[in-house]
Amino acid sequence: MRVLTLDDLRRRTSMKWRTYPEDVLPLWVAEMDVPLAEPVVRAVAEAMERGDTGYAAGTGYAEALAAFAGKRWGWDGLAVDRTAIVPDVMLGVVEMLRLVTGPGDPVIVNPPVYPPFFAFVTHLDRRIVEAPLGPDLRLDLAALEDAFRRAVGGGGRAAYLLCSPHNPTGTVHTAGELAAVARLAERYGVRVVADEIHAPLVTGGARFVPYLSVPGAERGLSLMSASKGWNLAGLKAALAVAGPGAAADLARLPEEVGDGPSHVGVLAHTAALRDGTAWLDALLAGLDENRRLLTRLLAERLPGIVHRAGEATYLAWLDCRALGLGDDPAEVFLRRGRVALSPGPDFGTGGAGHVRLNLATTPEVLTEAVRRMAAAVS
Ligand SMILES: Cc1ncc(COP(=O)(O)O)c(C=O)c1O
Repeated sequence: MRVLTLDDLRRRTSMKWRTYPEDVLPLWVAEMDVPLAEPVVRAVAEAMERGDTGYAAGTGYAEALAAFAGKRWGWDGLAVDRTAIVPDVMLGVVEMLRLVTGPGDPVIVNPPVYPPFFAFVTHLDRRIVEAPLGPDLRLDLAALEDAFRRAVGGGGRAAYLLCSPHNPTGTVHTAGELAAVARLAERYGVRVVADEIHAPLVTGGARFVPYLSVPGAERGLSLMSASKGWNLAGLKAALAVAGPGAAADLARLPEEVGDGPSHVGVLAHTAALRDGTAWLDALLAGLDENRRLLTRLLAERLPGIVHRAGEATYLAWLDCRALGLGDDPAEVFLRRGRVALSPGPDFGTGGAGHVRLNLATTPEVLTEAVRRMAAAVS
């Protein structure tokens, strides 16, 4: 977290660093300001040396994920023959929804939630049904049941797109909550598609529970990837994982989907999961430090912001309503403070008056960002 300078980072050409002018500090899109894990660099460099840039083959990625899941989460239920490589998590989500629902069918989501959940589902010609998080930023099981009832009431096949851990709040769902989700899903005949991209990024006392590991989740589908945990969004690859009762659905995945992922991406993700655990642990320690730093800086400089620190992801969900900056405080922080944050309203119901801040940066950048945000509202 402390290795790269702002000059190093400004040489990057990805979305985080190239969307805004140079005088803006970018703390928005989910890219991390860290050097890559050495095993990933080595795997990609060796592939380049071999000229190994053809099509992806084999089950190495799934095997590495299964081993990681066993060691990290104590879950040995990830069966390699119930996995499929997909181009990335969001395209995987779209393909899973296509397998278990039809045009016009409902998809339940828990706002405030990752904005592409709305866009991708809508572009797929599915209908969003909202079951907002509770005021404690956790799953509201009564709201979820109500949404399931409404969703299946109109006929058609319903799916629930679960974000676990939850972006933007960093909420880590418990085994009890997930088992309750599985019970409800079975009772109402709703298929669960779990986006578990942030699973490696769980810190502190919390424990990530894979959705497919809870009782009753046999018909569930999950999307997993090394992309967020090791900052590999530019090296496209992800895995779809089916529970035993969803294997037949996953088997219907059209052949062309498996042609989308990059072979070099697959090699990079595999190396991360297999050999990148020490790097991940160092990253998580740095993220914990930054989370504490942010809490302290906000208390000192912007006490009007309410921040309930999550236990996962590197995203902070900031409630700015007491500052009186209207529905979109990110616009004010950008215009007056030259800090780019993600606008809360994009996250759906419950997002107005909020911003999402990406704290996976150096302590210096984080400190300067909060200084600028405070100056913008003073
Ligand atoms: C919850 C969630 N899902 C999916 C993605 C995107 O993943 P991918 O690039 O693999 O589609 C992100 C990126 O931030 C995310 O936060």
